Amino acid sequence: MGVFKVTFGTPEEFTPIKYKRESKIQLSDSTSYEYSRIYFSITKQGCKLELPLQLEEEVFGFGLQMHSFNHKGSKKHLRPNADPASSSGDSHAPVPFFVTNKGYGIYVDTARYVSFYCGIARKKQRTPNPNNTIITTAQELYEKSGLKEESVMVIEIPAAQGVDLYIFEGSSITDIVAQYNLFSGGGCMPSLWGLGVLYRCYARYHDYQVLEMAKYFRQSHIPCSIIGLEPGWQSSSYSCSYVWDSERYPDYENMISELRKLNFHINLWEHAFVNAVSPIYQDLYDHSGNYEVWQGIVPDFADEAAVQIFADYHRNQLVEKGITGFKLDECDGSDYTGGWSFPNFSEFGSGLDGEQMHCLFGALYQQAVMAALGNRRTLSQVRSAGAFAAPYPFALYSDLYGHRNFILALVNSGFSGLLWSPEVRHAASKRDLIRRLQTVVFSVQALINAWYMPEAPWIKFDAEEEVRELLNLRMSLIPYLYSAFYRYHTEGIAPVRALVSDYTDDRETYSIQDEYLFGDSMLVAPMTESENQRRVYLPEGIWFNFWTNQKYNGGWHTVDTDNIPVFVKNNSVIPIAEPVEYITDDTIFDITLKCYGEGGSAKLVEDDGETYTTSFRIIEADKNTADIISRRYRLSSVITVV
Ligand code: GAL
Repeated sequence: MGVFKVTFGTPEEFTPIKYKRESKIQLSDSTSYEYSRIYFSITKQGCKLELPLQLEEEVFGFGLQMHSFNHKGSKKHLRPNADPASSSGDSHAPVPFFVTNKGYGIYVDTARYVSFYCGIARKKQRTPNPNNTIITTAQELYEKSGLKEESVMVIEIPAAQGVDLYIFEGSSITDIVAQYNLFSGGGCMPSLWGLGVLYRCYARYHDYQVLEMAKYFRQSHIPCSIIGLEPGWQSSSYSCSYVWDSERYPDYENMISELRKLNFHINLWEHAFVNAVSPIYQDLYDHSGNYEVWQGIVPDFADEAAVQIFADYHRNQLVEKGITGFKLDECDGSDYTGGWSFPNFSEFGSGLDGEQMHCLFGALYQQAVMAALGNRRTLSQVRSAGAFAAPYPFALYSDLYGHRNFILALVNSGFSGLLWSPEVRHAASKRDLIRRLQTVVFSVQALINAWYMPEAPWIKFDAEEEVRELLNLRMSLIPYLYSAFYRYHTEGIAPVRALVSDYTDDRETYSIQDEYLFGDSMLVAPMTESENQRRVYLPEGIWFNFWTNQKYNGGWHTVDTDNIPVFVKNNSVIPIAEPVEYITDDTIFDITLKCYGEGGSAKLVEDDGETYTTSFRIIEADKNTADIISRRYRLSSVITVV
């Protein structure tokens, strides 16, 4: 166990390690990984590393991959890019960290567009071995077809003359990733209210329409904790002013206070490109890159002076006036969306070039906004992240909208210290809406992003009742999810994980990319619009259907349901709360302890729900618990399922 560092050549000065949070674990001085088998060489383009890959070694990770799961046999070229079109490796949040089923994971400390060839072969003298299978579709022709022998992974890093590798070890992928997350500084602990429902309003709304929407939620008793405002709140948004628009929001202070009275938190959309009308433009000018985006300057977030100007303004003008979250848009790249972002040859005063800035921009931007929020915790949004992102309480999102891609992103997020939000926007049908919302409920951030819709997406389908029911379910899961985040924070164990992460020795899991573990005890197998039946794989052991309590053994099962298939692991206790519509400092959850099997316990987390300086108290409860003494939780009943 531990983190072992090995240096090849002369590493670059600007790499993610320089900007990461303080680690929660130390470097160790030994490793059982045979790093003497790694070959390093300097090339015309930069440098390259060659690592052995065993025949039955599978490769996972590389950040928020939305088109592929098990990367063995494929090439991944990691570039931060919006709306990646294929499995090339481009991603809103690429991370040069992979894990395998052989007890280790490797982080490559680079802010370059690095390529990983996950299973190629050097030439060798072979005996004749013709292959005369004729295939007549291009798709089949190039489909990944499983390697038949040992191979190598080659990592190609442009520009650099050397690199540091960090090797993490553990008995399961979950353990290995936990080490990486602790090395990153530990998983984030979001505010408790951040786990409630976030509704993003139509970008053209005026203040009174936002208030009408807020009142609609309260009057119709549909849970909602956070109202998000899209670009229209600003007087200039492409590029940004960070100033309220006087026509749409003439009395924004009153709107904020009305929303606060109704117990809403407020989250504001922005990106980092600063328009000349912005009060921070002149101060930032000398602390920005030499190319513009949408006629705005690009702050050099690797320069402390830029961070301070940006953070001070956000704190004084927005946070101090009641804003508790932000949506940090367009900090990825634009190779698939028209090329609007800053070029790779940009220069920044801190010394970073455009390529390095692209790889670090999401992380540095989050840090700047966290500096503005100070001691206030949040659960916000960001469209790009990279290495060492676990400590940042921001969920990723995309303009892509395939439900399957969203499920895959959810499954993959847990390999790399990322949070993913499979947001609901419009829907093709009522069924599509419900299927998507089911996935949202069982994810880290419950987001409805109606930024281009004047009315809530369920109105036209007459689906208010189903939506209320699903969002109530979400609210009843908050204590459980909060405990999962506490584990992320203290032990590095991600709240959402692929099956292979916990069940690393089970080969069946190596291709399961549409089921995931949600917290410690739940297995979720979402369905999309066209399905009402699916095959669900349950790893070895006993499981219970969350809806019917029916008992299952491990293996493949066919499940027929309009609901989302959810299974609970034997010997677990799930705290189910009476749903509340929103969360305040004094929210008390009435808890039913659902005890599956004979053993297990729930660990309820009590804190102020709000600040970084809070103290945490863990309350353990099981089937014999008669009472819970806590300011946050009250026991209503205990149910045993066997
Ligand atoms: C997009 C973003 C959307 C929405 C929109 C507003 O780039 O992904 O969710 O915020 O900008 O212009």
